[in-house]
Amino acid sequence: MWIELTFVLALTLSSLPQILTGPTSLSSVKALTRASNQFSQKLYAQVALNRSISVYSPFSLHACLSMAYLGARTSTADQMKRTLQLIRVAAPHAAYKDLIKSLNAVPRVNVLIANGIWVNPNYPVKMQYQNVIVRQYFAEIDTIDLTAAGGPETPINSFVAEKTYNKIPDMLGPDSITNDTSSVLVSVLLFNATWNTPFDESLTTKGDFTRADGLNVQVDLMHQTTDLEFKQSAVENVDVVRLPFANQRLAFFVALPQTNSGLSALETMMASENTDIDVLFTGMSKVKVHLYLPRFRILASMSLKNALSKMGMPNAFQPVANFSGISVEPLVISDVFQRAVFEIRESGTAAAAVASSSLNAVTSLHVTDPPIVVRVDHQFMFFVRDDLSNQILFQGHVSDPSVSNLDIQ
Ligand SMILES: *[C@@H]1O[C@H](CO)[C@@H](O)[C@H](O)[C@H]1NC(C)=O
Ligand SMILES: *[C@@H]1O[C@H](CO)[C@@H](O)[C@H](O)[C@H]1NC(C)=O
Ligand SMILES: *[C@@H]1O[C@H](CO)[C@@H](O)[C@H](O)[C@H]1NC(C)=O
Ligand SMILES: *[C@@H]1O[C@H](CO)[C@@H](O)[C@H](O)[C@H]1NC(C)=O
Repeated sequence: MWIELTFVLALTLSSLPQILTGPTSLSSVKALTRASNQFSQKLYAQVALNRSISVYSPFSLHACLSMAYLGARTSTADQMKRTLQLIRVAAPHAAYKDLIKSLNAVPRVNVLIANGIWVNPNYPVKMQYQNVIVRQYFAEIDTIDLTAAGGPETPINSFVAEKTYNKIPDMLGPDSITNDTSSVLVSVLLFNATWNTPFDESLTTKGDFTRADGLNVQVDLMHQTTDLEFKQSAVENVDVVRLPFANQRLAFFVALPQTNSGLSALETMMASENTDIDVLFTGMSKVKVHLYLPRFRILASMSLKNALSKMGMPNAFQPVANFSGISVEPLVISDVFQRAVFEIRESGTAAAAVASSSLNAVTSLHVTDPPIVVRVDHQFMFFVRDDLSNQILFQGHVSDPSVSNLDIQ
């Protein structure tokens, strides 16, 4: 009999920012984030290309799978190491410790990374594995309560709901956990930040957004004129704008293809073996930009088992799996499931409203300089990136802002 190991990722982002302190060893963290970002672009091509909307967290997914990789052995470990691009990372788990500490420690910005592992009381997980998970990934360890009122999912769902301020109240559906479930890993990433320069809500207007099929839909377009990092790339045929959050270390990037139908080509290029995703975020310069950006909200649920199998780690999901670093019982991963909520608004919180007066001040400094108009009115990619470690916390695309729910099986 095979025992199931379920990995669950819960994510949420609403629109407010934070601050981070420097990682203790930036070069090893950068080796890790390079691996994580590369892995993520490939997975993105499997699950997100050609869908009307998408959002997911490369960081959360890679961290959760790295926790599993820590307990993998033999060919299961080899496949995971290659798929997670960890071949060139000397000490990935130690680097994760630095990265999580650094991201969690950002003052004034709400980046919360909470990992949890729930263990079946009948199928004990090795103490050594538990210890390392606690030390390197700051995971909380608890025992699955098979007799919990409302089902064994209830305590885990409560943990996720509490960590995400109820944005993800029902992470696990009924019957997700059976008596054969050996453990459930949960990785929560909450990001709640204010813009460095908030949008003025009273300026938000209705405007057209052209979908991939050429039809227009009406959206709420926020706008502002401010000094922003910007580039027009003739290589990728894309305009890139960087909108910093309040602490400046983290930023929201919009990658807007120069043609209405350019998204697929851009994403295919980003996912290719030869592309260094970091290049997309470099070579920018500060200019005055008049930016129009649609307000949007996305909920996405993704089952990633098939995509991960195709990407080169099928053994982890099959009876041949070897997770003997986790338990003496024969474990197999039943699925990897990610749920994400992402929303972009003018400011986000009361804290943000306090800072909103900077908008006009910046504009009036450059009255003689006509701004570059960037109108995000057709399909685009977006990223939330930590510019210190290069880690992409969230990425996705919007081809139709009037669609906000997505389930990918
Ligand atoms: C996405 O669409 C493009 C153009 O229609 C097509 O060439 C490509 O194969 C599609 N990719 C996927 C993953 O479906
Ligand atoms: C799993 O890996 C361990 C450690 O390499 C090895 O001793 C064990 O024989 C493997 N189990 C199976 C079923 O392959
Ligand atoms: C699962 O385990 C719980 C507690 O040990 C028990 O009450 C329940 O009957 C078991 N369910 C099944 C289907 O075996
Ligand atoms: C976001 O942060 C602000 C304070 O910084 C807080 O008031 C608000 O409740 C938070 N919202 C979420 C969804 O976390």
